[in-house]
Amino acid sequence: MTAVGIDAVEIWTGNLKLDLPGTFAPEKGEDPEKYTKGLGLNASSFPDSYEDIVTMGANAAHRLMERKGLEPDDIGRIDVATESAFDNSKPVSTYVAGCLEQVYEGDFHHANKGERKFACIAGTQSLDDAYNWIRAGRNRGRSALVIATDTALYARGDDGEATQGAGAVAMLISEDPNLVELSAEQGYGSADETDFLKPNQQFPSVDGKRSVQVYLARMREALEDFESVAGEVHEEDFAYAPFHTPFPGMVRKAALLAFRHVTRNTAVEDELAEEIGRQPRPEAFDSDDEYRDALRAYMDALKDTDRYAEWYDATIDPTLTISREVGNWYTGSVHVARASALKHALENDRGMVGEKLLVGSYGSGAQAEIHSETVRDGWVEEIEALNVDEQLSDRYEMSWDDYEEIHDAHNHEMDVDVEEFTTPDEEFVFDGWGRMGERK
Ligand code: CAA
Repeated sequence: MTAVGIDAVEIWTGNLKLDLPGTFAPEKGEDPEKYTKGLGLNASSFPDSYEDIVTMGANAAHRLMERKGLEPDDIGRIDVATESAFDNSKPVSTYVAGCLEQVYEGDFHHANKGERKFACIAGTQSLDDAYNWIRAGRNRGRSALVIATDTALYARGDDGEATQGAGAVAMLISEDPNLVELSAEQGYGSADETDFLKPNQQFPSVDGKRSVQVYLARMREALEDFESVAGEVHEEDFAYAPFHTPFPGMVRKAALLAFRHVTRNTAVEDELAEEIGRQPRPEAFDSDDEYRDALRAYMDALKDTDRYAEWYDATIDPTLTISREVGNWYTGSVHVARASALKHALENDRGMVGEKLLVGSYGSGAQAEIHSETVRDGWVEEIEALNVDEQLSDRYEMSWDDYEEIHDAHNHEMDVDVEEFTTPDEEFVFDGWGRMGERK
């Protein structure tokens, strides 16, 4: 069976930066360490006044097409995943295609376009759609362009304000891909939840603490479901485990849960038993409460073991490097985590061809999906081409007043005009709602 997966990736950050411990925390009267140590964030990316989900998505896609020498005829499908859409009818992919058609001679008239919505997991769902389209043999030799683009803004004063972000990830999905092959096996954990909603409103209504619990519950179910089709997952099977990262502290919790899961009934559990006892099994307890208490105590002890710390440092921490500097990109977040891991491998001269990644995606509402990816022999060239470090250091750093202005400018209910903080550099810029970006 020919491999199908991600051939190339590009990341596009919003052009503004908010320093969380340095600027945000003091204004909120909070300890900066809540951000650096608790949430695990140093900064958030924000869109300048001329940026939105269309321009960021189109800019990421354009950079990808240029680098790969692609023309519109090479693309048979454009899917945009977003939870920041401004149009309930016309998909964002049509706006993005409109931008790209300004700079190419050809057009996307014979490409299928759509928009995927299921909170942050929609980026991975779009990947799956592209994978299935190619596997079904409907692609006529063409590739799919998948764009995950979001402005993850919360109302001012909402707890979520600490975890904002803005950016886009564009991915080319092809046969015989350069970067990673996607597994046919997937696992799901899905349930009707109301932890995070946007019913016809721009900023989300969030039950933050509950959303953390729902993320963990659905992720555990997805892992079990994945194992039911792919076989048991063990600690040493995966070089990295990129997970959806609303903030790195969330992934720290998910990682501990995953580690407990993949070490049960293994020599690692036997080894750890001398230090912290065996994992509690529900059948050994008279009530659910007793089991939960025992599990909590075991997890607290597990967190402090060297074995877990080593696994976390090698497999999880490298996935969080970019996220720490950009905040939550919703649909793009897990795809940023993959790029972050592979960048770490490149910077450390790690041989990755044939190595596996355990990819955990999550969307509120709620659904988690787990699949695995196998790194392909073109990965070095693809990851070397990323200019994300340069983009991050080129961002304009906002003062608190700048932040309030730009937040108002992006608030659809306010009619506020703000001067640009940065100068667009050969990129698509926002040209008013309902119109496509113009290239400046
Ligand atoms: N030093 C070190 N750590 C500190 C600290 C300090 N001075 N002060 C606080 N902390 C720690 C806290 O102990 C806490 O860690 P634990 O959860 O491990 O205990 C962490 O920093 C955050 O502190 P709080 O819980 O007090 O922070 P908060 O009340 O501002 O709420 C939040 C945090 C619930 C995540 C909130 O930011 C939020 O609602 N965010 C949006 C929702 C979200 O991202 N949910 C994630 C799951 S849903 C999802 O993944 C989908 C999505 O993308 C939105």
